[in-house]
Amino acid sequence: MTQTTTVDDVHTREAKYVLQTYRRQPVTFVRGQGVRLYDAEGREYLDLLSGIGVASLGHAHPGLARAISEQAGTLIHTSNLFYHPFQGQLAERLANLSGLPRAFFCNSGTEAVEACLKFARRYWYTRGEPRAEFIALGESFHGRTFGALSVTSDEHYRAPFEPLLPGVKFVSSSQPKELLAAVTRSTAAIIAEPIQGEGGVRPLTPAFAAAIMEASAKTGALVIADEVQSGLGRTGYPFYSGALGLKPHLISIGKALGGGVAVGAALVSQDVADTISYGDHGTTYGGNLLACRAALCFLDELVGGGLLARIGRVGRHLEQQLKAMAARRPVIKEVRGAGLIWGLELTRDAAPVVPEALARGVIVNRTAETVVRLLPPLIITEPDIDQALERLEAALVAVGG
Ligand SMILES: Cc1ncc(COP(=O)(O)O)c(C=O)c1O
Repeated sequence: MTQTTTVDDVHTREAKYVLQTYRRQPVTFVRGQGVRLYDAEGREYLDLLSGIGVASLGHAHPGLARAISEQAGTLIHTSNLFYHPFQGQLAERLANLSGLPRAFFCNSGTEAVEACLKFARRYWYTRGEPRAEFIALGESFHGRTFGALSVTSDEHYRAPFEPLLPGVKFVSSSQPKELLAAVTRSTAAIIAEPIQGEGGVRPLTPAFAAAIMEASAKTGALVIADEVQSGLGRTGYPFYSGALGLKPHLISIGKALGGGVAVGAALVSQDVADTISYGDHGTTYGGNLLACRAALCFLDELVGGGLLARIGRVGRHLEQQLKAMAARRPVIKEVRGAGLIWGLELTRDAAPVVPEALARGVIVNRTAETVVRLLPPLIITEPDIDQALERLEAALVAVGG
């Protein structure tokens, strides 16, 4: 805060000038350090949300800050009309991590999904067998642009904007047979989040993943794994689709990739890549120098820096502690997740937990009405987890749990 700007000014100005699409919590953050955030009054919060899975290296990470600052002082953006040194390097690193050899860069998760949907249509068009249909899952969330919204199941998000893309069918993620019946030779692609994040932190079962692969093998339908929330180490695996035995033809990523700098990507198989031509898709900002430097820095930490291996260990600690808390607190009905993405399904609306947690210095959010979601920075340690969960448990007690 500057001397002339108070917290009240911030709230008043936003209320007057910012389009009111977000219901914000009444906190103004001004600074961060590792897994901690500080508000305008200097109060400290343990961040178990990382800006909804984005601040993967925590806040004010020195390596990321250095990379971004150095790049900003050298060259930020030139457009995709020209080469620069980093996009190919980033694509190569993502290919090594995912097994999908080609990347298209964009700026957000919804754009990554949008690209995957378009590339799936293009694949069938190029093969002279146009297929328009997509199969998506109940409880899915893929983003807010029209294509991504069309494969998002929640009526609340969809209804005001209909008509959406035609030819989308939703099936229940607990019914492999329903999926097998729905996928036909008119299906361009099946799209699924390996762990449904916004839908309440619901990992797909290996049996459902096997049904996706069976349906794809029988009909040729492509498989799109939306790993925007579950990918890039979040679960202790590079991608959770791999852990489930899924072999996607396309993967959408975003969130953690830039550690806070906006960058997303669609990763595609060579078969799909072979059907794409110049001009099929594009974006002005996608994969600029600044975004690529940030993403390369994140991947340096994740792979070279040993973060991925650490997430498995720290994630097991978080799982044990959450399950122990659930045993003590009857308000927790179920604990779901993997690695460093967890949902606590409550027996009641989870909304009041969020302000109670904030008041005790811990940041979580509610999703799917009854679920408290945890998506901490990937650098979180066991002692940070213990301290944060103590505060979260006190918040659950405060709401009567
Ligand atoms: C699985 C999944 N896909 C896509 C998106 C959309 O990403 P963005 O908000 O960056 O557009 C999200 C965002 O929460 C997501 O969780």
